[in-house]
Amino acid sequence: MSINSPKVLDSFCGLKCVSSVSCNSEGSFFGKESSAALWQSVISRVVPTQVSVKSLQPQASMFKVAILGAAGGIGQSLALLIKMSPLVSALHLYDIANVKGVAADLSHCNTPSQVLDFTGPAELANSLKGVDVVVIPAGVPRKPGMTRDDLFNINANIVKTLVEAVADNAPDAFIHIISNPVNSTVPIAAEVLKKKGVYNPTKLFGVTTLDVVRANTFVAQKKNLRLIDVDVPVVGGHSGITILPLLSKTRPSVTFTDEEVEELTVRIQNAGTEVVEAKAGAGSATLSMAYAAARFVESSLRALDGDGDVYECAYIQSELTELPFFASRVKLGRKGVEAVISADLQGLTEYEVKALEALKPELKASIEKGVGFAQKQEAAGASV
Ligand SMILES: NC(=O)c1ccc[n+]([C@@H]2O[C@H](COP(=O)([O-])OP(=O)(O)OC[C@H]3O[C@@H](n4cnc5c(N)ncnc54)[C@H](O)[C@@H]3O)[C@@H](O)[C@H]2O)c1
Repeated sequence: MSINSPKVLDSFCGLKCVSSVSCNSEGSFFGKESSAALWQSVISRVVPTQVSVKSLQPQASMFKVAILGAAGGIGQSLALLIKMSPLVSALHLYDIANVKGVAADLSHCNTPSQVLDFTGPAELANSLKGVDVVVIPAGVPRKPGMTRDDLFNINANIVKTLVEAVADNAPDAFIHIISNPVNSTVPIAAEVLKKKGVYNPTKLFGVTTLDVVRANTFVAQKKNLRLIDVDVPVVGGHSGITILPLLSKTRPSVTFTDEEVEELTVRIQNAGTEVVEAKAGAGSATLSMAYAAARFVESSLRALDGDGDVYECAYIQSELTELPFFASRVKLGRKGVEAVISADLQGLTEYEVKALEALKPELKASIEKGVGFAQKQEAAGASV
């Protein structure tokens, strides 16, 4: 099956259920053309060329996914997108706010997964039992004038509590951290998992897919390319100058003037602020974030299902640079990160080399802040 005929979307084609009605196998509620394009863009980019979608045949395995923070702006949209996945058998929605309504609403969509709701700390453990992928968008979003680091104290505590529960109830699951500041919340999660004795660095991810999605969109617009053809690796971290799009590694190969590189890099780094300011106090990116997170979930599920051709950028424990955590392109497999693609950091332009060096002190400080927070909490817990 070629990438251009995503028969997996048949399951969303209502007409197909009526045998007397002819239904194009590429149909979906996105329309024929856009369904192919959408599916191709959701499926992660591949090195070197083509995606194998064998594993998306009807006989593919099915997995359980939990969203912690499912009643929020990202959580609800993400739940809808994951509900569309043919690889999901059960979708567990957890929040401290009531998620019954979200679950009831979603459960009426005639896609394969069963939707279960879990509200409040007493139901957290059950929401995680038997789950293959846990996505964490719980927390407070950025308001105008706030940096991601301003959110630190609130979200650090939320992530710590939730990851402790993941360690106790789903220690083998892939963990996708969305809650900001990702540069610090991922090191916090790592410390929590270490303390619980279940840390597997190949299964802990900071979700940086939105940076890649934005880079792809902005480059395609600037260079008048087809959106789904463009792939820009984004490395470093997930805040301000720590976000480093490697424009020289753009596929298909394109040339940029120095001014274009500067303009695009700054726009990609500040794209979150563009949304925060446009929403004028009503939160940060939710829809594009949900789209990006759904792409990362789908890639993880394909990897769990045995597809050997899944590549994504993610913020992970890393030896690619001297920093202990670093976002780069990785190959995903059944056991999580199977390989880190070091080639992306070779042959950088002078601009990229300078930007890489410039981001390191800020990223280092954010990592240390996260580790310091977790260790302080541990010490406080030990002295109680
Ligand atoms: N990684 C990224 O690229 C990216 C992009 C945008 C936003 N974010 C971050 O994602 C997070 C969520 O953003 P949002 O716009 O969906 O916010 P939101 O306020 O709309 O939703 C957050 C949800 O988390 C829930 N929540 C709070 N504490 C919880 C807890 N202890 N356990 C379970 N649920 C809890 C809230 O009840 C709410 O439903 C924020 O931290 C935001 O900064 C990350």
